[in-house]
This record gives sequence, structure tokens and C-alpha cells, in this order.
Amino acid sequence: MKIAVIGTGYVGLVTGTCFAETGNQVVCVDVDQKKIAALRSGKTPIYEPGLDVLLARNIKEERISFTDDLTKAVEDALVIFLALPTPAGADGAADLKYVLQVAEQLGSLITTYKIIVNKSTVPVGTAEKVSAILSKRLSSSLFDVVSNPEFLREGVAVDDFLKPERVVIGTTSERATKIMADLYSPFVRQGNPIYFMDARSAEMTKYAANSFLAMKISFMNEIANLCERTGANVDWVRIGIGSDQRIGKRFLFPGIGYGGSCFPKDVLALNLTAQEHEYDFKLLQSVLAVNTLQKKRLVQKLSQYFDHNLQGRQFALWGLAFKPETDDIRDAPSVDIIGELLAAGATVKVYDPVATENVRQLFGDQLLYSESQYEALQDADALLILTEWSEFRNPDFEKIKRNLKAPVIFDGRNVYALEKMKEQGFHYESIGRSS
Ligand code: UGA
Repeated sequence: MKIAVIGTGYVGLVTGTCFAETGNQVVCVDVDQKKIAALRSGKTPIYEPGLDVLLARNIKEERISFTDDLTKAVEDALVIFLALPTPAGADGAADLKYVLQVAEQLGSLITTYKIIVNKSTVPVGTAEKVSAILSKRLSSSLFDVVSNPEFLREGVAVDDFLKPERVVIGTTSERATKIMADLYSPFVRQGNPIYFMDARSAEMTKYAANSFLAMKISFMNEIANLCERTGANVDWVRIGIGSDQRIGKRFLFPGIGYGGSCFPKDVLALNLTAQEHEYDFKLLQSVLAVNTLQKKRLVQKLSQYFDHNLQGRQFALWGLAFKPETDDIRDAPSVDIIGELLAAGATVKVYDPVATENVRQLFGDQLLYSESQYEALQDADALLILTEWSEFRNPDFEKIKRNLKAPVIFDGRNVYALEKMKEQGFHYESIGRSS
């Protein structure tokens, strides 16, 4: 099948590459010529495990190509994916300007039947808006607009795309249903479902999924905070409740608040949708409030330990990305934590296996940067763990002790066992586990 993917960001690139991998002919379109040039030579602008290998293979086999020529890409394609940014505007609402602009352009380019697929996370009713724009110039027999939200997790996006737990497709058109079923059939061979529904329900499904997951995390963060006050250990509580299948084992890890380019933006946007429809979504507002507070907890603990005076202290930070296996620092708790430490007059030395450059762009020479995890510890009064990268799981504790000024660890991700830390002689504070 001939496919065009408009927007070569995170979602567009993974989508295009994975469709090429199943034998389709894919053209990826972007206005950023530099990006196009890099992609043509097989360079991915994002760190996503497995993507570079797949991309190189499909470029070599000539199943994927990159262009800034929208006209040509649209002319050839049957299915056109819109994977455009929908940044949160000043009020938190998803800004649809890129999606709607491209819809206008498509209106003047389409001459034969096409399916226009919304891949971006967009508010309920957007498929209808895109449809209305196309209808200004095109007869309804020339297009269908479909909502097909993605459920990819950064760091495992390729796997998630190739083996999705489910595919959600919002369309009531029989013609589009058939084509979309065909396109996705190689990915659901193990029997995972493709759910066809109306576009509004598909759009809502995406927001409901992300908001529910964010709620799960905020709930566990609250339980963890209560565990600290009651002397319970959240590790046990997590295991204890997670084996109930109605709750599920996954996504119950407390920490320093959820981050990333999706949860914070989507919870905010769904809350706005509720407000627009005069619905007071109390639970969602609590999810937001809990997360804001949770991002402050680690520095609060640190500050308490140092008698509420961090002025002149130095801290080593391990992990900056909003989660492991990505270089993404968008809405990462680390960014807030760094901001607070700097505001309190502390010196901050950071280490992350892949996200350091992104942090450097944000903070410049306000921070000290380290090439190695152990070097970051030198002259530091304490180590803060902000991302649970695998390489932090089993470190050389003796070396940590040697390099730090004092054996003090504040762990925002509960990476270490309490007993081990005691044995090693660390002052160790984590989330929801009384030390
Ligand atoms: C999330 C969803 O999981 C995907 O299904 C969705 O497609 C994606 O957003 C999106 O909308 O594009 P992602 O942002 O990559 O994926 O990250 P997650 O793995 O969901 O983690 C989000 C945040 O929650 C991270 O900051 C992570 O540290 C935190 N988290 C996650 C916890 O604090 N505890 C947990 O138990 C799990």
C-alpha cells in the first residue's frame, strides 16, 4: 500500500518506519529540510532503541523515503497519516494549527480517493474539523477522515508499534474500515484486536487511556506518601495490590511524578475538554495537583536533611530523562528539581547516559556536566537518582562512597533495596519506604 506520513517527529517516524517494515511504500514528509537530509542518510533525530536499524534497512530496500514535497507525496498515497505536533497552548488546550493548516493544503491537492488519518493526540471532534475543512473543496466521495490514536511508549515504541496490544480506529466508513484493517493486519496476527469505533470515541479513548495511567501513578504516589507516615513499605503494598488482576501489576511504581511529552499535556487537555463541556472532572484535577506536589517531594526531603539550607551545597544527579531508554526531557521531573536546587543556591552536577545534551540546551552553564556517573559524585554532598536507568541498578557502592563527601543518597525511583543501603552504611531516602 502507498502511504504518506506528514510530520517526521517521534510518532511519524516510528509509524512510517514500521509500515515500511511490513512491505508498504512509505513517503515521510516534513517542512524541516535539515531533518529530511539527515533522515535520508539514515540518521534518526531521536534516541529510540531499534529504530535506526529498521530505518536503515527500509531505506536500503527503498521502501521508505523522505521529502519536503507534500504535493508529490499526496498524489501517490492512498493513506495519509497526519503525525503533526499538537503542542499545549497557553491555556493547556492542544493547539491544532499544524493539523488544520495541512488539512487546508490537502484540500487543494487531493484529486483521487484518500484516507486522512489523525495519528496525533487531538481533542474530541478534531476528525470532524478536518473533514469540514476538506469538504470545502472536495466531494465526500474523495476522502475519509479516520482517527487512529497511537499508544506507543517512548523507549519501546518500535515494539509497541509492531506488536500492539490493540489498535483503535475511529471511522464509520466501510471503505476506510476495509483499507485500515488491511494495513494493520500484519501487526495483529497473534489475535490482538483492532477496535473499530466512531472517530469521537477513538479520540476520547486516547485521552482516557493516558489520563487513567496518570491517575494510577498519582494514586500510588499518594499511597507512597501515606506509607512513609504510617511506617508501611510501598514495595509490599504495590505487590500486594498488583496481583489482583482488576488492578494489575504494571504502572504502580511511585516516584517523583509522571513526566514526558504525553501525560502532563493530555491530562491537562482532557480537563479542559471537560470544562468546555461544563463538566467538573474532579478526579482529573486531583491527578494534576498530586503530580505537581510529587515533583517537589524529593527536594523537600533533601532540604529537611540539610536543615532547610541548600545554599552552597553540591548535588550529583543521576538520570535526567523523564524515564529510561529515551533522551527526552520534556516535562521531566528532573527539570523542575534542577530548577529548585538552583533557586536554593545549590551547585548541581548532572549525569545521564543520553539526555545530557538536551539538558545542556535548557540550562547551559548553570550546571556542571559529567561524562561518567562516578565523576559526577565528586565534591557532592549527596546523590539524587532521578531516572531508573539500568546502569544505576547495580553500581560500585564503595566507589560511590569514596567519591561523595558523605554517604547520602536520595532516590526518587526506589532503585535500591533498603537492607542493602543499610548494610552499605548509606543515609538513604526513597519514596514510600521508611528507611
Ligand atoms: C505514554 C503512554 O504510556 C503511551 O501508551 C502513550 O502512547 C504515550 O504516553 C503517548 O501518549 O504518546 P510515555 O510518555 O512514553 O508513554 O511514557 P510512560 O512509560 O507511560 O511513562 C510516563 C511517565 O510516568 C514517566 O515519567 C514515568 O517515569 C512515569 N511512571 C510510569 C511512573 O512514575 N510510575 C510507573 O509505574 C510508570
